[in-house]
Amino acid sequence: MATADVVTMDKIVSLSKRRGFIFPSSEIYGGIGSSYDYGHYGVLLKNNVKAEWWRSLLRERDDVVALDSAIIQHPRTWEASGHIAGFTDPLVDCRTCKRRYRADKLEDGQCGEKPSKPPGEGPNCDLTEARNFNLMFQTTVGPVQDEGSTVFLRPETAQGIFLNFKHYLQFARKKPPFGIAQVGKSFRNEITPGNFVFRMREFEQMEMEFFVPPAEADKWYDFWKQARFDWYVKLGIRPDHLRLRPHDADELSHYSSATSDVEYLYPIGWQELEGIANRGDFDLRQHAEYSRQNLEYVDTASGERYLPYVIEPAAGADRATLAFLCDAYDEDEIEGETRTVLRLHPALAPVKAAVLPLVKKDGQPEVAREIVAALRERLQVEYDEGGAIGRRYRRQDEIGTPWSITVDHQSLDDRTVTVRDRDSLQQDRVAIDALADELERRLRAPWRSPKGSYGP
Ligand code: GAP
Repeated sequence: MATADVVTMDKIVSLSKRRGFIFPSSEIYGGIGSSYDYGHYGVLLKNNVKAEWWRSLLRERDDVVALDSAIIQHPRTWEASGHIAGFTDPLVDCRTCKRRYRADKLEDGQCGEKPSKPPGEGPNCDLTEARNFNLMFQTTVGPVQDEGSTVFLRPETAQGIFLNFKHYLQFARKKPPFGIAQVGKSFRNEITPGNFVFRMREFEQMEMEFFVPPAEADKWYDFWKQARFDWYVKLGIRPDHLRLRPHDADELSHYSSATSDVEYLYPIGWQELEGIANRGDFDLRQHAEYSRQNLEYVDTASGERYLPYVIEPAAGADRATLAFLCDAYDEDEIEGETRTVLRLHPALAPVKAAVLPLVKKDGQPEVAREIVAALRERLQVEYDEGGAIGRRYRRQDEIGTPWSITVDHQSLDDRTVTVRDRDSLQQDRVAIDALADELERRLRAPWRSPKGSYGP
């Protein structure tokens, strides 16, 4: 059953707020631009996205290890990485509308706001010269604010990995090829944030630096491009809404010899979801020079020594969460009523099963509570007894719960329940004792979005 794509960013924003996925931050004070807070279902969803990322690297492979590094690092880090000199956007102010713009994003050099001159008398806006604006947030450590106390909130998690590289060589005796992965908050004072959680000033990254012998860099670059693309497909994103786009030479970051973006067709168009870069030995070389430490890998048996090259898949947890939400959003009609449903991959769904007594009497709530207690040990479940059963199904559909378990009068007689599937709406009768195994079986089964057109 393929359905027309009805998703818009407004619908996602509204559902997110209504059902407690994501709220505008500090709303009681009027909000603060481009900051968002994750509510209950948003936390569960984003945690599942991050857990699947960790699983694909730590559990399904044996050549990737984990790290959780500090947000505030030695300020020399950012000199060595090139962020102090180069992590800038060109900024212009419009004297007419008093707004600030990225010079490289203006169309025809016009800000497009209030016209300041009559038509035909030159440009509509009155822009200042472009000046470079560093995107790093600056703060101070300690009680005295002097030059030596200036530090930065990390603009990427990657550098923490390079700073710790030596530990992994020395203590974990890692030998390239191997990866170090971390998930955590990064901060950028973006000039033009927007589009909900797509571009924020505070966001979460999921980055892995994969250290390889230089001769193997191209091979691993190709490998990680495909592996990261496949990760999104496995988690249910429709392949025709994903593409790999290689960067043109003039788009490449200062550290990169090749980069490809995994792009998703958001309601705002094709946009970057994740970047996979061949960073060469740029970072290790820079940190070796600035710290005066030897960061080479040395093979004690053969005496071979080299600075590894680095392949970096760098994803955003918020952008991925947004892509999963957009791809899952659907509307259909049931019994003459429009239903909003999130067709999320069951592994990502915030709640795996809702347990619903058909009526609030005759021992049904007690059996339902007993089922919740048993399932809770293995899955995220929810109990709901409030309102007509149809409304309760709709509430679960809206948050993407794949299975609703209904306890009815028959359950009291033969200890079976119905399991309703969110997408097919099929109802199967399952023995209560077999329920947990059955749900886990379904959870592990390969899954494809019913919104997609995959052919036979
Ligand atoms: N270490 C390389 C690096 O940070 P990036 O392309 O700047 O590369 C990687 O960031 C990912 O982080 C992006 O693909 C995106 O998913 C996410 N990201 C970057 N800036 C973001 C922002 N302002 N808001 C939300 N996510 C962001």
